[in-house]
Amino acid sequence: MDFTDQRLSYEKGMLDQQSVPESPFELLKGWMSEAIAQNVQEPYAMSLATCGADNKPSVRIVLLREVTETGIVFYTNYESAKGQDIAENPNAEALFFWHELERQIRISGSIAKIDADKSAAYFQKRPHDSQVGAWVSQPQSGEVSNREVMEQTFAQLQSDYPENSPVPTPEFWGGYEIRVEKIEFWQGRANRMHDRIVYMRDQNSSSSAWTTKRLLP
Ligand SMILES: Cc1cc2nc3c(=O)[nH]c(=O)nc-3n(C[C@H](O)[C@H](O)[C@H](O)COP(=O)(O)O)c2cc1C
Repeated sequence: MDFTDQRLSYEKGMLDQQSVPESPFELLKGWMSEAIAQNVQEPYAMSLATCGADNKPSVRIVLLREVTETGIVFYTNYESAKGQDIAENPNAEALFFWHELERQIRISGSIAKIDADKSAAYFQKRPHDSQVGAWVSQPQSGEVSNREVMEQTFAQLQSDYPENSPVPTPEFWGGYEIRVEKIEFWQGRANRMHDRIVYMRDQNSSSSAWTTKRLLP
């Protein structure tokens, strides 16, 4: 297959260093709201790149569940391949791409587990069968001999924890927060003259001050 003749002109928006808000969280929430308003499907799905001690990067989709005052939160199995990468190297990057808006956002920083109480509160809010599914997928990313084994475990757990009976929150499952150190907002423009504004957290300031730069596309 050859895609060398395939190209689109991006013309839906612009981004100007003078008019972006001081806080990147304000812009992130603004762009997220626009993506929802424009019916982008699962705008909160993001690619998450991690890299363990083997120096081999690894990327997969996870769902953004919260934007806090310091970062972004997603939930997963702490013993998964990504969980092991994070235990070995807390630096990570998340990426959103919304074709409908011709935008991407790159968010990098260090990752830390969120409070166990907060993870438990979220786990208990999830649908019953998703809670059961989290127990089946242990250890997430481990090998399973066939689908039947998964289905048997699922059925067994459903009978142990029928609908309306609480499913315990697994210790191996919970949230991570990427504490944002850098966010790049990318808006596609015509002729490959894309707008890229990057925010960097001010290292010398204890408050959350940010500096911005325009980058070449
Ligand atoms: C749309 C979408 C959303 C997903 N959301 C999550 C999520 O929030 N948490 C998660 O652990 N896995 C999620 N997954 C599955 C992951 O992409 C991945 O397969 C899984 O976490 C195992 O990754 P790992 O082996 O690198 O740890 C999602 C997949 C897709 C396609």
